[in-house]
This record gives sequence, C-alpha cells and structure tokens, in this order.
Amino acid sequence: MPELRLVVTKSEAVTPQIRAITLAQENDEALPSFTAGSHIKVQLPDGGERPYSLVNADASSEATTDPASYQLGVRLEEDSAGGSRYMHGLKEGDAVTAIGPENQFGVTSENVGIVLIAGGIGITPIISMASELKAKGQSFEFHYCGRTRNALAFVEPLAALCGDALTIHCDDEPDTAVDLAGLVTSVEPGSHIYVCGPRGMIEAVRERAHDCGFDKDHVHFELFSKHDEQVAGGSFEVEISSTGEVFTIPPDKSIIEVLEEAGVDLIYDCQRGDCGICQTDVLEGIPDHRDVILTDDERAANDVMQICVSRAKSDRLVLDL
Ligand code: FES
Repeated sequence: MPELRLVVTKSEAVTPQIRAITLAQENDEALPSFTAGSHIKVQLPDGGERPYSLVNADASSEATTDPASYQLGVRLEEDSAGGSRYMHGLKEGDAVTAIGPENQFGVTSENVGIVLIAGGIGITPIISMASELKAKGQSFEFHYCGRTRNALAFVEPLAALCGDALTIHCDDEPDTAVDLAGLVTSVEPGSHIYVCGPRGMIEAVRERAHDCGFDKDHVHFELFSKHDEQVAGGSFEVEISSTGEVFTIPPDKSIIEVLEEAGVDLIYDCQRGDCGICQTDVLEGIPDHRDVILTDDERAANDVMQICVSRAKSDRLVLDL
C-alpha cells in the first residue's frame, strides 16, 4: 500500500459539523486511481491512524483515474481528542501522510437492482458509489438519512448527480423521516443493498433484509461510529495463549491498540468492526461483541470476536494468538 505525502489544498465547512478536505500530492503528481468505496488511512500526530472514504460526486472518469486530488468528508465528533479534531484543524498548505487507497466496500458491476442508503457522515463512500453507477449508466435508488436537513453534507452535488433517484429523509420531518424496515421490505428481491452509517442503521437494515430473505452477500455495509465510543468500557485482561502473557486493556484502548504497543504482530484493517479481518478465536472468557459482522448465533457462541472493537464481559479473555 503506497504511502502518500499529501498537502491540504482546501478545507471548507459543508455543514456546522462536517468539513470537506481536499488533498493533493506534495509533488503535484497525479494521485493513485480509486474506485467507489475506497478509503485512505490518514496518520495522526499521536501515531494512530483513521480511515476516511474518498468522496466523489463527479461521474467523469477523470475524477477517479489518476486524479489531481482526493476529497474527504470529516465530521467533528464531540469531545474528540483524536482524528476528527486533528482533521478539522488542518489548514491550506498543511502536510498530511496517508496510506492507500484501498477498497473493501466496492459496488457490484452486475446489472441488478441497487439501493444505496447513507446515514449522516456515512454519505462519503455512498456518494462515490452513485457517481460510479451513473458513469456506467446503471440505475439505482439513493436514500440519504439524517437528523435534520442542515446536518446533511454534499446534498447539492448529490441532487445534481442522482436526480429523481435521490430521496432525503430527515428525522425531524414527519413526512420524510425514514422507515428503514419499510424501505428494505420494498426492495426488489435479488437487488444489492449498500448501507453506510451508524450501528443502529446497519443493524436495522441487516435484520430486515435477513427477515425478507435477502442473501447475506447482497447486503453490504460499512460502519461509521466514533472511535472513542467504540472502544470505551471497563478494563479487563487478555491472555495470549501462545505465550501466556497477560495484558490489561484499559477503558480507553482497544485490544489491538494494547497488543500492538506491546509488539504483538496482528492483522487488522477497518478498526470499526465491519471488515472481519481481525477476527480472533476466543478460548476462554465471554466477549462483549461490538462489531456489526457476527450474526446473533455467532455472538451467542462466544468463540470468536473482532479484537478491534469488541471487549469483555468476563474479567479475562484467553485469545488464540
Ligand atoms: S479490523 Fe475490521 S473488524 Fe476488526
């Protein structure tokens, strides 16, 4: 995965809490091409990193093939001490290091029905999907949901891109507030559903799609939630079965963060609990599952967990690491 030395060329508020940040190569060269659903991982001053989806509301190929710039949409999380506050503080000319782009949330090229659902800042990968589908001449439905109209970013370019395919849903407007169960129930069988937003939205869509008999492979999702909220919880211990070493996981850190700091070699990606790459076997103890991947039955079995976000209900977990 290439490391990119980027410079901020523009940062503007597009809602009271969301900034659109444009980045170009420090050396003015073209950036790597990308497909809808791709993200880059921006490195933070504290050594951490945060994934941000590449936003594209332009259906022309120049926007994604050797593009001159990338655009991100970043929501400032309340009480953020990490990623979003750093990103919102960036000014024109500031340097940023990132890795990517990579894509685990691509849109199908099959000629089938497609329903796109975005909640809040979950718009960022979904708007790029609409652009890609439009470029291919493929039809789709787009549902964009938020608490209030002025909290929704990128509405103008989205409306120009989608036309009648776009429906906006606002919680504070009785006529437009989203009925996710009804929406999913109305989707044609065989269609693909793409949803990006908060945990409750993803779980509601997945549950309804399951009840309606949708194939699991036709429901695609990416989770957006506050990193700090996801890892918060009481402290507990993790024992690594291969060495017997025991680590204390404090309330404000994930298992991955603690083990990595201790030099344990781990494989992971999204750090949001939606890609499954960090899934680890649990040999003893009861996990507190916080991912959006496992089914209810898999959670109840308590024999695997996503160590990027999930925690423990028992005092100690023994992991097959
Ligand atoms: S890294 Fe993606 S689920 Fe843990």
